[in-house]
Amino acid sequence: MGIDDVILELDKGLRTLAGTPRAVRPMPVGDADPSALSPAERQEAAALMRVNHCGEVCAQALYQGQALASDNAELKRALEQAAREEEDHLAWAEQRIAELGGRTSLLNPLWYAGSLAIGFAAGKLGDAWNLGFLKETERQVERHLQGHLDRLSASDARTRAIVAAMQRDEAGHARTADALGARELPRPVKEAMAAVAKVMTTVSYRL
Ligand SMILES: [Fe+2]
Ligand SMILES: [Fe+2]
Repeated sequence: MGIDDVILELDKGLRTLAGTPRAVRPMPVGDADPSALSPAERQEAAALMRVNHCGEVCAQALYQGQALASDNAELKRALEQAAREEEDHLAWAEQRIAELGGRTSLLNPLWYAGSLAIGFAAGKLGDAWNLGFLKETERQVERHLQGHLDRLSASDARTRAIVAAMQRDEAGHARTADALGARELPRPVKEAMAAVAKVMTTVSYRL
């Protein structure tokens, strides 16, 4: 890891936090009109998308930490590809929150810093564990997004389309990690990850 890598990652981090993510793919289609939703439905959708936006900030930081800590070129490429798709998620979530009249989480810088450290630590454990961590993260996010699909109003086609597209991408990231040789994490580690994620999702739902 050279100073160039660090500067590059720093730049990505600042862009993530400054709220200027660039979506490469267009936002998934769906009814654009939030006025079709009741105020309560709109508020709930904005809160759920704030949680997802925060999750995507964390994803960026995790991948950056993991890529910084790894010397494996193939793994770095996979992380960068996944991070690009996550950047679409970040941009879509941000746009949808704005449409719904909500705001992003105030604590994003804090979650970003914590996730960067966790990603770096995972990366230092070696490629198989690094990939195992990636796979488990994606699996948990996939399940979490299913929970949101269950909670979102049936009439909120636009938010649902975004969440469903994210969910498909996360499943793809998990498969990529698997194909590259992810090691299955021990159950207590998975549970610890879920516990940390629970704190993040609970707090960002409100703040
Ligand atoms: Fe994502
Ligand atoms: Fe992902």
